Amino acid sequence: MRISYFFVLFLLFCTMTVLDAYRIVNGHPIDIQEAPWQVSIQKYGFHFCGGSIVASQIILTAAHCLVNMDVKTLTIRAGSRFWKKGGQVVKVAKIKSHTEYRAKKYLNDIAIMRLATPLKFGPLAQPITLTSSVPRDGTGASVSGWGLLKAKSTKRPEILQAVNLRIMDYKKCQNTNYGRYGYSITRQMICAALNANDACQGDSGGPLVSKKKLVGIVSWGRGCAAQGFPGVYTNIAYYKKWLKTEIKELTNC
Ligand code: ARG
Repeated sequence: MRISYFFVLFLLFCTMTVLDAYRIVNGHPIDIQEAPWQVSIQKYGFHFCGGSIVASQIILTAAHCLVNMDVKTLTIRAGSRFWKKGGQVVKVAKIKSHTEYRAKKYLNDIAIMRLATPLKFGPLAQPITLTSSVPRDGTGASVSGWGLLKAKSTKRPEILQAVNLRIMDYKKCQNTNYGRYGYSITRQMICAALNANDACQGDSGGPLVSKKKLVGIVSWGRGCAAQGFPGVYTNIAYYKKWLKTEIKELTNC
């Protein structure tokens, strides 16, 4: 009797541990084929932010990721679900953050990097198309990254995680039960949430994707998966023009 009781407890403990490993902020591990545009941005070989491949030598990320960063210390890893191993590691040659990036309010949290050598494209490493329109409220989307599995956690996943979300209209993100950020949310931002699903620290700079197009860059949020406080992303559609000119400039130099 006593033994089976302990056995049940033991099983329960195991299931909880396994569930926890899959929780991220409610996501699941994925193969890199499912998000071949995802890269890990690294300083001295350590992951600190995510990014998206938009051309063989161009990576898109968040400006807050690159503050006071010396390009000489930076590399990216593409084509692997592990931030630590596999795929292609390439040096960063140049970084260009939005000139009007404002740290305090997370305004214009967008940056471009030029790689020292081009990535080799294949099923594991592919560029993603930028959206030209803001997705409507309620549109399905997903975010991926090697960020924390829950707020204030000390555990960092080794395997790339992804989670499904829904786009939230920026007005809904300001003053409703679903979003209580007030006017810190601007049209340059896009919110996304679903149940207790969210991005978290370390996912920054990474892709928010809807219908196979890049619609957002992980930017900020109050805590992670906190009720009433969706994840906030840089609104790609708003920066389409800026991106076009800046990418052109970075490509030709
Ligand atoms: N700023 C964070 C980073 O540097 C990302 C925060 C995203 N938070 C959120 N709740 N969606 O990694």
